[in-house]
Amino acid sequence: MVDPQKSSSGAHDVHPEEQSEGLSKGLTNYGDRGFSLFLRKAFIKGAGYTDRALDRPVIGIANTGSAFNPCHGNMPQLIEAVKRGIMLAGGLPMDFPTISLHESFSRPTSMYLRNLMSMDTEEMLRAQPMDAVVLIGGCDKTVPAQLMGAASVGLPAVQLVTGSMLTGSHRGERVGACTDCRRYWGRFRAGEIEAQEVADVNDQLVASVGTCSVAGTASTMACIAEALGMTVPGGATPPAVTADRIRVAEQSGRVAVQMARSGLTIDKVLTAEAFENAMRVLLAMGGSTNGIVHLAAIAGRMGYTLDLRALDAMSRQTPVLLDLKPSGDHYMEDFHAAGGMATLLHELRPLLHLDAMTVTGRTLGEELDAAGPRFTQHVVRPLNRPVYPQGGIAVLYGNLAPDGAIIKQSAADARLMEHEGRAVVFENAQDLANRIDDPALDVGPDDVLVLKNIGPKGAAMPEAGYLPIPRKLAAAGVKDMLRISDGRMSGTAFGTIVLHVTPEAAVGGPLAWIQTGDRIRLSVAARSIEWLISEEELRARREARPVRSPEADRGYERLFLQSVTQADQGADFDFLMATESKGSVPRS
Ligand code: FES
Repeated sequence: MVDPQKSSSGAHDVHPEEQSEGLSKGLTNYGDRGFSLFLRKAFIKGAGYTDRALDRPVIGIANTGSAFNPCHGNMPQLIEAVKRGIMLAGGLPMDFPTISLHESFSRPTSMYLRNLMSMDTEEMLRAQPMDAVVLIGGCDKTVPAQLMGAASVGLPAVQLVTGSMLTGSHRGERVGACTDCRRYWGRFRAGEIEAQEVADVNDQLVASVGTCSVAGTASTMACIAEALGMTVPGGATPPAVTADRIRVAEQSGRVAVQMARSGLTIDKVLTAEAFENAMRVLLAMGGSTNGIVHLAAIAGRMGYTLDLRALDAMSRQTPVLLDLKPSGDHYMEDFHAAGGMATLLHELRPLLHLDAMTVTGRTLGEELDAAGPRFTQHVVRPLNRPVYPQGGIAVLYGNLAPDGAIIKQSAADARLMEHEGRAVVFENAQDLANRIDDPALDVGPDDVLVLKNIGPKGAAMPEAGYLPIPRKLAAAGVKDMLRISDGRMSGTAFGTIVLHVTPEAAVGGPLAWIQTGDRIRLSVAARSIEWLISEEELRARREARPVRSPEADRGYERLFLQSVTQADQGADFDFLMATESKGSVPRS
């Protein structure tokens, strides 16, 4: 590594053939390396840099600030703090923009664009000269996209999350996005509250910049990133607007310089052990079901296949310990006050790989030993007094989902976990929107709502798996029904909802041929989802109505439809996954 204190006299005394760090890295190809570096230096000096500054290790900062992304609204403060950390450690900070994705500002879905963001991140890390990178993300798809991209590049990388938003207060009740968004909207649909109240609560649900305040996908991915060893210790939970969050940012910058100097590349952190630790945390926090899709995609970039059956076995031995909405009662700021991830990881200690490496250059076990004393708190339960006796997510198989489906059992209605009912089928999201509130819809509380064609190819996997309760049933007091789809749902949602049915309807999965009136049987205890149909009947339906996968003529949509994989492979693009297999995780 270049000595940061050493001053260079200019481009003429640089020997570019001998250097592959700092500003000399990845030179633009003009057919003359000396000229390439000379030109690069000339341009950067146009911004006022000195040779002394340019001799330092270059630390990139992936800036995902955007006016369309309030979850990243503290980006300027974070970048300033990261830069301070980098400078204090002797590096040269260089921030650069990439795509930013917010859940509510991404059409048709943020999931459609996650892989594009990962490609943007990957190619910018490859194209620009940096010795390490601090990835700043937060809103649901941004952290997985950054980890996927960085995993493919192989640089030293630190994940910094923007942190959770604060909770608000509505008429004396504490509220936060987005579990309470759904709860209030459900009450409004059921006629329990007036339009004025739903407008009032709209002002309070998101009380500051930052990511959703419950165990939604953003919080889940923040905790997963820390469990993977990809953040500095304690990096997951400080809320966005706190001094703790700014200190984490400064520390992230400092650690990135250390990593550049020591050559601690991402492959030394993202190991099979790290992925298993992350899966434990996902299960023990009652985390978002989206976490499985994203973990499968990140693991796929490192050459690992996510084994859903082994994950389910792990789930049976990993109780939910985190009392966080929607599975529990608290919000992310409470989790932070309770000690954050150190408290959860301490409780999970017997189930973790403590020798897994982290970005600090110390192991997870060493970081836990250094994490300070434990204290009485009410957010993380001990292993012998869990919130839920098994992991938050169960994996289902059956003739409706030959390659698997999942259910967030910790947020489901116990009454419906063993259930047989009549299917009420919607062909796609538009069909659902057209008919779900029709007073003439033939539906009862014991029926099973089925939504097709919202899988990866069908509709870029929107979070539409949380089908609303038909208005007439909601008005009659029905709070939950068994719902099934090939799509996803927000981590902030709750209910007896079977998701990620694989293969999806749009590629000819069994879901494509189900009809209203068919019967479906769910047994979470047996981990089965069965469609009560004879082979002959299924064959006849297949022959009568063959499935044609959607296609597009041009652009990113064409690339997406040609390349997106199924949910069990993380819905990544097939050509972005690692070409060399390292086996499956978790290892059974
Ligand atoms: Fe950004 Fe929830 S919408 S984290």
